[in-house]
Amino acid sequence: MKHRKPERRPGRASAAPQNRILKTLDRVLSKAGICSRTEAREWIVRGRMKVNGKTVRDPEHWVDLDRDQVVLDGRPLQAEKKIHVLLYKPKGYLTTFKDPDGRPTVYDLLQRLDQWVFPVGRLDQDTSGLLIMTNDTDFAEHVTNPDHHVPKTYLVKCSTLLTDEQLERLRGGLELKDGPTRPAHVKRVRDSASKTFFEITITEGRNRQVRRMVEALESKVLKLVRVAIGPIRIHDLNIGHWRILTHDEVRLLRKSGGRRGGGAGNLPAEAGT
Ligand code: URA
Repeated sequence: MKHRKPERRPGRASAAPQNRILKTLDRVLSKAGICSRTEAREWIVRGRMKVNGKTVRDPEHWVDLDRDQVVLDGRPLQAEKKIHVLLYKPKGYLTTFKDPDGRPTVYDLLQRLDQWVFPVGRLDQDTSGLLIMTNDTDFAEHVTNPDHHVPKTYLVKCSTLLTDEQLERLRGGLELKDGPTRPAHVKRVRDSASKTFFEITITEGRNRQVRRMVEALESKVLKLVRVAIGPIRIHDLNIGHWRILTHDEVRLLRKSGGRRGGGAGNLPAEAGT
């Protein structure tokens, strides 16, 4: 099945919250699996459907099944089943739906998935690692909202050897052009002759944040992999592959973070060791 962009109410795009998925009434009805699109249009025109208590006879009427109550012959239609996909994005893939320059996107890796999903936050083209894709807007909001402090852990290979003092500066928070970074958990993994590998856990997710933090130390990121989102780690997921998050994992992610104000939030225990 081909993935489709979420449809948005024309002219109200700016008012609609980002990632809110709107569909036309005929599509909602046919997707519910009870009739064809043509039948759906006939049923709607015949006045069999109500949206938020009012009969709607326009098949093109926009609805959001998460918020609008859609009823056929007095019986409510169910919202689409929520799905949470964990993808191991390879370097070189864009976190967008389509690229005008024809570069590969994360949707190229989800061909076997038959539900529309959108990315929960972004990963740079040059960054690999965990990316959650979902149709669950509340869940996505929890994971991406910086106020919720959901930790994200990255494995970094940088272009120089970093001293303990430099790692300490990452931990304490650095001044970037968009403001100081929050305290982070940082663990040296190993040093080669001329390069340091370290893991860093941050709770913000600003644009290219890890790269900019390393540049503030006069070094450069050579390789960046997101190895964990909250308590969920890559483990044996293969690069370019995906799996469905379990109910328990989704529950843990919903509980992850949760601190407001300063501090590094509820970081996974292993991140700070
Ligand atoms: N930090 C970065 O620099 N890039 C990412 O993709 C994510 C975090």
